[in-house]
Amino acid sequence: MTVTERPTRNLSLDLLRGTEAAALAAARWVGLGNKEEGDQAAVDAMRLLLSTVPMRARVVIGEGEKDQAPMLYNGEELGTGEGPEVDLAVDPIEGTRLVAYGRGGAISVIAAAERGGLFNPGPGFYAAKLVVGPAAREAIDLAASPEENLKEIARALGKRVQELTVFVLDKPRHARLIEQIRHAGARVSLHTDGDVGGALAAVLPDTGIDVLMGTGGTPEGVIAAVAVKALGGGMQMRLDPQSEEERWALVNSGYDPQRVYSLEELCPSQDTHFAATGITDGQFVRGVRYRGAYAITHSLVIRGHTGTLRYIESYHRLEKLRAISGELY
Ligand code: FBP
Repeated sequence: MTVTERPTRNLSLDLLRGTEAAALAAARWVGLGNKEEGDQAAVDAMRLLLSTVPMRARVVIGEGEKDQAPMLYNGEELGTGEGPEVDLAVDPIEGTRLVAYGRGGAISVIAAAERGGLFNPGPGFYAAKLVVGPAAREAIDLAASPEENLKEIARALGKRVQELTVFVLDKPRHARLIEQIRHAGARVSLHTDGDVGGALAAVLPDTGIDVLMGTGGTPEGVIAAVAVKALGGGMQMRLDPQSEEERWALVNSGYDPQRVYSLEELCPSQDTHFAATGITDGQFVRGVRYRGAYAITHSLVIRGHTGTLRYIESYHRLEKLRAISGELY
């Protein structure tokens, strides 16, 4: 037996503790109708955990600029100051409204890559995305119409267009897109929020979703790209400013709103890590549940270098956690 490379530490498993902590903190706020406090609890919990991880991390996609976000802001350094140098994209709650209103599909998520390994979305808030699983990754073209894409995707998957289900965010801006998908004959699965989860559902098998189409957050697009690449799926993205102000900010920073970015451009790194924990029930992870003395979390962890995908169920003993961390959980 010839071992060409010795197994190395898997940072994703450390990052997982950050998404678990944020999901546990957020879970206390499910359905309480309050977006801000749940988000703050998740940010605090994730930041606390990440500060203990042996890494020299820099947040490149976080809660925003430092003046509006005192924690997990873009540029914040995290970790113990030893270990690998990484860039982090964090979203302690992806789907703050889903949490506030107790709807399914909210996750806590972290993506990491070696320094410079994540696309910098600059001042772009919104981007058009097209995501599919491995079998259809050569079949997509964001420059072509939804009808053409659906035809090619169906061919690649060996299905009829009528058998495809497309995840779309339920937003007024998608009225025409939804019409086009329906006109092509495919089924539309509408979700008020959570297109990182939608992208994962499109890439993972047996979720009932074949494709993600439509415009959502640009940072969410970069986070999703890390998982899509590691899982061998296909993705393209184009900045899609939703106001003149956003368009100008992009153009002034040297971005071309017409340009279609490939998955390689969104995530040039091979050495990536991804962890997502369910807060409320979703298509690939269950939400936080309480049973007896335990809170149970369900997570997905992916390592880009090896492509290993792990589903992890953790039992957290609440009494002990609360004694250690105060009333965070
Ligand atoms: P938040 O958790 O930051 O609220 O994001 C939820 C989300 O639905 C994302 O999944 C999506 O990319 C984005 O918001 C869409 O933005 P908008 O609701 O403004 O259309």
